[in-house]
Amino acid sequence: RPSRICVVGSANVDLTFRTPRLPKAGETLAGHSLHVGMGGKGANQAVAAARLGAEVALVACVGNDSFGADAIGHYQKEGIDTSFVRQDTSRPTGTAAIVVDDDAENCIVIVSGANAELTPADVRRASAVIQQADAVLCQLETPLDATLETFRLARAAGKLTILTPAPVVELPDELLRLCDLCVPNRTEIEFLVGGALNRHEDAHAAAKSLISRGVKSVALTMGGSGAFIADATGTTHIPICKVDAVDTTGAGDAFTAALAVSLAEGLTLQDASRRASLVAALTVTRIGTQSSFPDRGEVDQRMTSGHDFA
Ligand code: RIB
Ligand code: NA
Repeated sequence: RPSRICVVGSANVDLTFRTPRLPKAGETLAGHSLHVGMGGKGANQAVAAARLGAEVALVACVGNDSFGADAIGHYQKEGIDTSFVRQDTSRPTGTAAIVVDDDAENCIVIVSGANAELTPADVRRASAVIQQADAVLCQLETPLDATLETFRLARAAGKLTILTPAPVVELPDELLRLCDLCVPNRTEIEFLVGGALNRHEDAHAAAKSLISRGVKSVALTMGGSGAFIADATGTTHIPICKVDAVDTTGAGDAFTAALAVSLAEGLTLQDASRRASLVAALTVTRIGTQSSFPDRGEVDQRMTSGHDFA
C-alpha cells in the first residue's frame, strides 16, 4: 500500500514577486513577474508528499475567505484528505509575500492569520488520521500547544514523528523527547544548540547535542553544503545535487516530505536523505513553492539516470 502521511501545520497563500535584486528601504522597485500559488510549511509538506505518491491528510486552519476556499480546492486536486482543514471565521488565510531576485536570493514576510487559530482540540478531532499514518509531520508556524498535542497522540500510537523547527523558537524538552526525527537548517540548529557551525565537525557536535536533549535522529540541511544525518550511532554527510537555483522557497519542506515518504516506505535514513536531496534540488530549479515540487515519476527517473544534472 502507499505510505500514509499526516501533516499538522500551516497553510499560506504565497505571493512570489520576481525582481532583478532585493529592494532597499524606501525604494519602489519594478518586478519582472508575480506568481500566486499555495505555500505554508505544513501544506507544502503535504503537497510534496502527495506528489511522491503518499496518501496524505492535512490538519490546518485557513480563513473563511476566497484564498481559504482556493487552498482547500487545490489540496483536494492533489488528492489530499482535507476533512480536517478548518475554515476559521476570525482571521484571514495566512499569507506570505516573497521577493526572489535574479540570483535566487529571497526575503519573505508572513502574516500567520488563521494559522494562529489551530488548537489542540483541532488536533484531537483529527486523532483518527494521526493514528492511521505511518509518519506525522509538524513545523512551528502554528501554535506550539497544537504541535505538542499532535506528537503526544502520534507517539502514543507508535508513529514516526518528524519536526521541522521553523521558524525556530525555544522548544520545550517534552517536544524534543517526542521527536523521532528533527529536520533543522543551519540557522535553526545554531539557535537550538546555541553555537555557530563553522566546520563539518561543528555539524556533528550540534546534531549530537540535539540528540542528547531527547531527539532520536537529526537531518540537518545545509543548503549548498548538502545534509548531515545523525542518530545515536553516528553522523553521515549527504552531498548535494548541483543545480542552478532559481527559487529556493519550500525546498526544505520538499526535503522533509521526501524523507517522511521514503522512511515510511522502509528506506534507511541515508537512502531516504539521498532521495530527499534530489527532490529538494529539483524544486529550487523552478519558480514558486508548491508549483515547483516534482512528482514521483520525475524523481524515480532522475534516481535511476544518476542525479548530477547541474
Ligand atoms: O517554507 C516555505 C514557506 O514558508 C513558504 O511557502 C511560506 O508560505 C512560508 O510559510
Ligand atoms: Na522553487
